Amino acid sequence: MKVQFTETILRDANQSLIATRMPFEAFEPILPELNKAGYYSLECWGGATFDSCLRYLSEDPWERLRKIKKACPDTKLQMLLRGQNLLGYKHYPDDVVRMFIKKSVENGIDIIRIFDALNDIRNIEVAVDETLKNGAIASGTICFTKSPIHTLENYVKLACNMEKMGVQSIAIKDMAGIMGPKESYDLVKALKENVKVPIVVHTHSTTGLGAMTLLKAVEAGADVIDTAISSFSGGTSQPSTETLVYTMKQLGYDVDVDMDVLKKINDFFKPIKAKTLESGLLNPIVMSTETDALAYQIPGGMLSNLVAQLTAQKKLDKLQEVLEETPRVRADLGYPPLVTPMSQMVGVQATSNVLAGERYKNISSEIKSYVRGEYGKAPGEVSKELEKKVLGDEKPIECRFADTLAPRFEEAKKELGDRATCDEDVLSYIAFPTQAEAFFEKREERKKNTFTYTIKRVD
Ligand code: CO
Repeated sequence: MKVQFTETILRDANQSLIATRMPFEAFEPILPELNKAGYYSLECWGGATFDSCLRYLSEDPWERLRKIKKACPDTKLQMLLRGQNLLGYKHYPDDVVRMFIKKSVENGIDIIRIFDALNDIRNIEVAVDETLKNGAIASGTICFTKSPIHTLENYVKLACNMEKMGVQSIAIKDMAGIMGPKESYDLVKALKENVKVPIVVHTHSTTGLGAMTLLKAVEAGADVIDTAISSFSGGTSQPSTETLVYTMKQLGYDVDVDMDVLKKINDFFKPIKAKTLESGLLNPIVMSTETDALAYQIPGGMLSNLVAQLTAQKKLDKLQEVLEETPRVRADLGYPPLVTPMSQMVGVQATSNVLAGERYKNISSEIKSYVRGEYGKAPGEVSKELEKKVLGDEKPIECRFADTLAPRFEEAKKELGDRATCDEDVLSYIAFPTQAEAFFEKREERKKNTFTYTIKRVD
């Protein structure tokens, strides 16, 4: 039996531990080793990397991708994409989604892991179709959550529908690290019995279950697991690559990853970790095991948000009430997976319900959009009472929200004029307008500076 590995150091580990602040120059020297480690893929783009490049690092995300591709020609490059939301939290029209995927593949992406926060398959359809059209691998993704309606049967149905759509693999995405070893085993086994495409498992070590969850996934037949090089593993990141490679080899699985190369990669990242610890960018808290998420069945990140929110309002004494209200709000909304932005929306509403002393006295505009169906179809039934409160006699929209959106790409291109040097710039602008514009300005300045410098040198 063969087990393959996706290395997350450049994307999820980077994102989960140090808020995606690792600049390209920091990891550039180790790319040749990452290229020859024997990974199934290198997750290096998408998620928060794009926003972070523009907002904090003054890097062109597209250029980063091209440079990684150049240094890693033999390893598949992978990105995470939030379906119709691309890399943000709102829905984009189809022309933008298609152009974004076309350009991602053109610039070097081989595998696109595509998910929707509500597991509404209509929100990944266009992205999957365009990925396939461009000859890349589309990985259909299940957001793992627990609720009375998130049954094995429903997950299998979802996976079968994605397989029919043409995805070449199915990824289970346990963003909160709450999938236990038994749940992992049962889910992978059920999927293996019902779909033909490879199964990929993604989890986080937050609650300490991670490595066991991956081990049981492999025992049930998972083909690929996501891990992070050990110096950037554990805590809110993924379980360690070396540990899992060692384990799988010891158990007799066929593993392509080379432990000697992993050692070199880890030795490279160790001092970077030390530096980020020293600067405070890496907070030791995110590396520790946090089991409260298991007790409350809500993701760790969401829990710390609730605590911060209540502390700011000097109402921390209401925490227990808010924690009890949270699952009730989630149930009213038809059990959305607690992934961004749902986790924030549910948390804010639960807090408001408790602090106002009356449920749904104030309803956030996001919750209203959700009830209107603008995020997609709720996994279960939305409470009739809440629906009535938000919509009155109106009905939620039946169609996919993107169907109500006008094309945007050409219009944005016109808006930018000659500030955009290529279609990639236009996409950066559509995704993060303010950050992209600030970045374009800085880039212009840099160009001017380089120019003067060149002239001086010739002189
Ligand atoms: Co993740």
